[in-house]
Amino acid sequence: MTNAPPPPSPAAALYGSPPADLAEVPPGAAQVSPLRPGSADIAALADASVEHFTVAAPPGSVERRFVLAHALRALAPDGRLVALAPKDKGGSRLRGELEELGCEVAESYKARHRICVVGKPAGSGVAITVAIEAGSPRFVGTLNLHSQPGIFSWDRIDPGSALLLAHLPALAGQGADLGAGLGILARHLLNGPKVEAVTLVELDRRAVEAARLNVADPRARFLWADAREAGLAELDFVVSNPPFHAEGIEDRGLGQAFIASASRMLRRSGTLVLVANRHMPYEAALRTAFRAVETIADTAGYKIFEARK
Ligand SMILES: C[S@@+](CC[C@H](N)C(=O)[O-])C[C@H]1O[C@@H](n2cnc3c(N)ncnc32)[C@H](O)[C@@H]1O
Repeated sequence: MTNAPPPPSPAAALYGSPPADLAEVPPGAAQVSPLRPGSADIAALADASVEHFTVAAPPGSVERRFVLAHALRALAPDGRLVALAPKDKGGSRLRGELEELGCEVAESYKARHRICVVGKPAGSGVAITVAIEAGSPRFVGTLNLHSQPGIFSWDRIDPGSALLLAHLPALAGQGADLGAGLGILARHLLNGPKVEAVTLVELDRRAVEAARLNVADPRARFLWADAREAGLAELDFVVSNPPFHAEGIEDRGLGQAFIASASRMLRRSGTLVLVANRHMPYEAALRTAFRAVETIADTAGYKIFEARK
């Protein structure tokens, strides 16, 4: 029997990308955000091992408490945790949340961010265990899907995706789902007998891990990657419900970049099927990158486009 390797224990760890002028990050700090392909999993850090932890706290409250609790669990007894967030994206709750986890908090305010500095809390750690449990991966029975708080639309079907499911044309050959989330679209696509393979491309490791459980089909491939950089080519089809937020901040350019990537990934005459809020400025990007663009549905605030390269 081989022994499992010990969990990683870097001297310094970093979750996300805090503004450089607000939090010092020691050189060589190990990135543990699930939104950075290739990073370590915060849940795999050894207990009481990290001397310096910097957390750009995520906006969702269950997810944020989960991350703070893991950071405190992994913090060395004499370690230091710096957690920060914009005031209107969870920052105003940070202090209270850290206190509930047993910390004494030194708080400051700069550039619309609340910045909290704490040491490892004394005590039994029950609150830490509860917060970790509340934010951990689980099976969501109402969706019949594996999921985790923090993943996009983690406990409900996004209305745009539901509409796309209802309007997906029959597709065939090799394809990809860009920003595949929990794998709802890919699972549906794989019901098509002419579909040979679907690559689920997704930036969020938690979603990739959930999708592996949700899409149990040998024709499915899973890529933890930025869809704008994924090296796929000569595909017959791409489907996407593209993101328009990057870590809580609206970014309309993301969808336009997804459209350009889809075009690069498709063979000539390949098809992109895309759903978007109807106010999103995607039509010009579609017409630039594709030979023919058709609106196949325009309802309930969403548009579905079918574009041919
Ligand atoms: C609007 S959601 C759609 C999710 C899923 N397709 C569905 O229908 O429920 C967009 C997804 O894109 C992912 N995402 C965001 N930025 C990305 C990027 N640069 N590359 C790949 N995926 C990304 C998000 O994590 C999210 O899961």
